[in-house]
Amino acid sequence: MKKIGVLTSGGDAPGMNAAIMSIAKSAAMYGMPLVGIKRGYNGLLRKSTSIHDDLQELYLDTVLDIADRPGTYLRTARCTEFLDPAWREVAVKTLHDMEIDGLVVVGGDGSFQGAMRLCEMGIPCIGIPGTIDNDLPYTEMTLGFETAVQVCTEAVRSIRATSRSHDRPAVVEVMGRHCGDIALKTACATGAEIVVVPEVPWRVEDVAARLNKLIAKGNTRATIIVAEGCWESMAPFDMYTFLNEHGKKCYEGEPISAVRFASIMKRMCGMVEARATVVGYTQRGAEPVAKDSAFAFEAGNLAVRLLRDGISNQVIGTRQGKVFYMPIADALKAERPFRRDLYDLVNSL
Ligand code: ADP
Ligand code: F6P
Repeated sequence: MKKIGVLTSGGDAPGMNAAIMSIAKSAAMYGMPLVGIKRGYNGLLRKSTSIHDDLQELYLDTVLDIADRPGTYLRTARCTEFLDPAWREVAVKTLHDMEIDGLVVVGGDGSFQGAMRLCEMGIPCIGIPGTIDNDLPYTEMTLGFETAVQVCTEAVRSIRATSRSHDRPAVVEVMGRHCGDIALKTACATGAEIVVVPEVPWRVEDVAARLNKLIAKGNTRATIIVAEGCWESMAPFDMYTFLNEHGKKCYEGEPISAVRFASIMKRMCGMVEARATVVGYTQRGAEPVAKDSAFAFEAGNLAVRLLRDGISNQVIGTRQGKVFYMPIADALKAERPFRRDLYDLVNSL
């Protein structure tokens, strides 16, 4: 009988609980005891005063009801100590002491790097992609992305309704870290007229020119979706001088933000108002949509079967709609295909 562990790491993602439930059901079916490790890799480092704060036997009864709940039952966290080989030795010792023979890691690329290090130290690991950002190139799906897009779509639909009433353009910032997928898919789903993402260099003046054209055609509620990482691909723009010269107080060195960007658009386009909304953590804390939960169900079962069959150092993903697995190292080397065609379509249609 093999005993296995499961942890969630990095930012939480809708669908993580569904994965934990599927892992628990599968482990029970194959007669494999299951231990939940709390707060990502932190739970393996024995930093808490009580072991129950770090590790918990997971019985089916405990987790049966959590599948559709947002968040992660096991908690999640980043763990900087885990970058240090000496701390990873502590983690391996904990796993040996607990007689845990394999680990399922639900997280993003950073968490998978950690899993790869553990594999090198003799601990079999399987990764399940859990991040709203969709920034793992080897897979078409990551747990939480579809849910995040749904949340953003609903937010943008509401914002566009009030924007229409007030003849006001809107700037809506969505998450995604260095990845523009949430922004792009939300823009496509809502008919937003402009999208800016970290993958494509852009200029403030060009966005204003497009917005001006839309307003001239009568589209006074045009929506600009900005990915939170888009500022890194923005051409230098002297916000301080521009805003101060146009009657808006701005401090030297102040970073640009969605709110500041809306102020600039308002002044460049001669609008009475342009407002900004940051969708924020509602994207992460939502109930998973069916597609994320269904992927979690299949991925959780596959992860347990792989560990049962002695297969390790793999990550699970989807390709052409089907669940598959591949070596972690190869997955992390995969190139990211950004949908430039869709980006151009949104910004020109
Ligand atoms: P994500 O998994 O969502 O990409 P992070 O990049 O924050 O999130 O990584 C989550 C955790 O994975 C880190 O806090 C750390 O514990 C572990 N990790 C990240 N990179 C490495 C690495 N190179 N080696 C070992 N562990 C890592
Ligand atoms: O990786 C998921 C994510 O929500 C990113 O989109 C965002 O940049 C980041 O996590 C925010 O992290 P934190 O919870 O530390 O604010």
